[in-house]
Amino acid sequence: MAESSDLRSTRMPLNNGSGRIPALGFGTLIPDKALTITATRDALEAGFRHFDCAERYRNEREVGEALKAGLAAGTIAREDIFVTTKLWNSNHRPERVEPAFEASLDRLGLNYLDLYLIHTPFAFQPGDEQDPRDQNGNVIYDNGVTLLDTWRAFETLVDHGRCRAIGLSDISLDEVLPIYEAARIKPAVIQVESHPYLPETELLEFCKRKGIVFLAFAPLGHGMRPGLLEDPVISSIAARVGKTPAQVLLAWAVQRGTALLTTPKDAARARENFDISALPEDALNEINRIQTRQRLNEVVKTGVPGFIPQSR
Ligand SMILES: NC(=O)c1ccc[n+]([C@@H]2O[C@H](COP(=O)([O-])OP(=O)(O)OC[C@H]3O[C@@H](n4cnc5c(N)ncnc54)[C@H](OP(=O)(O)O)[C@@H]3O)[C@@H](O)[C@H]2O)c1
Repeated sequence: MAESSDLRSTRMPLNNGSGRIPALGFGTLIPDKALTITATRDALEAGFRHFDCAERYRNEREVGEALKAGLAAGTIAREDIFVTTKLWNSNHRPERVEPAFEASLDRLGLNYLDLYLIHTPFAFQPGDEQDPRDQNGNVIYDNGVTLLDTWRAFETLVDHGRCRAIGLSDISLDEVLPIYEAARIKPAVIQVESHPYLPETELLEFCKRKGIVFLAFAPLGHGMRPGLLEDPVISSIAARVGKTPAQVLLAWAVQRGTALLTTPKDAARARENFDISALPEDALNEINRIQTRQRLNEVVKTGVPGFIPQSR
C-alpha cells in the first residue's frame, strides 16, 4: 500500500538500478495520427511522465513530435520522462532486433530509450509485413527463433547503452520463468492486461519477489461499457470517496503495487486520470473481493492484437 495519499508522483525502482519508472503511464495505442499528437501533448501537460509506445501502433513519429514539442518548451528535460517502445513479432530474429530498435528510436526522435519490451512472445514470419497470413488467413509463425534468442539480442542493446532496461509483454508466468532463469540481464518490467476482473495475482506476486515492475494495461477495461467503469462496486466506492470510477480503478492499481497504462484522449480526461489519490483500506478490500473474471485481450494467446480501439 502506497504511503502517501497523493499517488500522482509514485515511482517504482527498476531492478537493474537504471532508475525509477513513474507508476502512472500514458499509453499511445491511438490509431488516429492527429489525435496521437494532441493526446500525448495533453498527457504531458497534465503531468504524465511515462509514455508507452510500440512499432505496432504505427504512430511513434507522432508521439515523438509531441514529446519533442513538450521538451522544447524548456520546463521538462529528457531525463524527466520515461519512454518505452516495443519490438513487434515480425522482428524477433536476432539480426532484426537492432535495426528495428534504431528505426523506433529514429521515429521517436530520441537518442536512448528507457525501456524496450518484446511486445509478445510469439515470433511471426520475419519481414516488414506486421500481420503475415497464409492463403487460409492463418498467421504465419516463425519456428526458427526462440524467445531466448530475441532476449539475448535485447541484452546486447543494454550492453551497448542503447536502452536502459528491457522487459516482456503479453506473456504468462510459465513463459516468463525460463527467460528469467536464463537471462544475464533480468527483465525489469512485465506488461500485461490487468484490472479487477483480471488481477493476475500469481504473476504479480512473482514480479514482487523478483523486483520486476508489473505494468498493467487496460486498467479501465479498455473503457468498454458495460464493464469496469460501470461495475456497481467501483461506482459505489467512487460516490463514497468523491472520485470518478476511472480514478478509483487507477488508484487501486497503484496501491496494489503495479504501474499502469491508461489512454485518455483529451485534456480533461488526462487531468482526471492523473489526479489520483489513495483509497481507504476497506475500499481496496471491496475491489479485491470482486468475483467477475474477464480477459479482454487475446493477444497473450496468439500474438495477434485482439482489441484495437477505433479512431474517432
Ligand atoms: N502490450 C499490449 O499488447 C497492449 C495491449 C493493449 C494496450 N496496451 C497499452 O496500454 C495502453 C492503455 O490501454 P487501454 O487503451 O486499454 O487503457 P484504458 O485506460 O483501460 O482504456 C482506455 C479507454 O478508456 C476510456 N477512458 C479513458 N479515461 C477515461 C475516463 N476518465 N473515464 C471514462 N473513460 C475513460 C477511453 O475512452 P475515450 O476513447 O472515449 O477517451 C478509452 O476508450 C495502450 O494505449 C497501450 O499503450 C498494450
